[in-house]
Amino acid sequence: MRGGTKLDRLNHQKVLFNILSVVSILIIFYALAKNFMIDPEAEGFLSYKTGLKRELNLPVWLNVMYVHVGFACLAMASGLLNFSTINVQNSRKLHRINGYVYVVSVLLVVLTSGYMAPYATGGKVSSMGFNLLNIIWPMITMMALVQIRKKRMISHWNWMIRSYAFCFTNMLIHMITFISERIFGLGYADSYTIGIYAALALLLLIPEVVIRTIHKS
Ligand code: HEM
Repeated sequence: MRGGTKLDRLNHQKVLFNILSVVSILIIFYALAKNFMIDPEAEGFLSYKTGLKRELNLPVWLNVMYVHVGFACLAMASGLLNFSTINVQNSRKLHRINGYVYVVSVLLVVLTSGYMAPYATGGKVSSMGFNLLNIIWPMITMMALVQIRKKRMISHWNWMIRSYAFCFTNMLIHMITFISERIFGLGYADSYTIGIYAALALLLLIPEVVIRTIHKS
């Protein structure tokens, strides 16, 4: 598709955006339903936490988890909205305000993650993986912000694709955990640890493929 017309490029971006919208909206509804309605006490997930080094204060952990999930969904929704307004000239103000909603949401997801990380399923190695995520995601998001402050549009767009990928962290961890547990027969906690690191690798890799695909079309 190299050398396609501007119309080809816009159509290609539209298809990618439509796929992203469907997946993101499904994840938002699933995360809200699962964590606030189906299993608000997180009994299923917590049942795998055995032999914790520090005692978990359940009411505090649960409230932190609600804030975490709430802002994760807000980050996902505001990020999606901003990808949709990128080509619309008269929505610049909305894009800007919503962009800050995204950045604050990312910081709150990371802050709450910082509280939960020491109790992570799978122990110390899992905690370290989450702390890596806690450093990388805000750094990438700040890069996106710095680029637009310098009026570098394409670079801002690329860094936002890299940042938005991290909204799929939880989904990817659970998908990889599921494959590792059910197909390869590993225990849940080990599978979860593998899930964290494999998700991190994919979250860094997939956006590069997407960015190259977009710029090729
Ligand atoms: C943006 C999309 C995200 C959603 C929807 C989300 C959702 C959740 C949910 C529902 C839990 C409770 C346990 C479970 O069912 O998995 C959780 C736990 C956790 N999340 Fe997130 N999360 C997201 C992103 C992130 C990111 C980017 C990080 C790290 C920077 C993170 C760090 C954590 C930590 C440390 C825990 C506790 C894990 C444990 O106790 O083993 N999350 N998240």
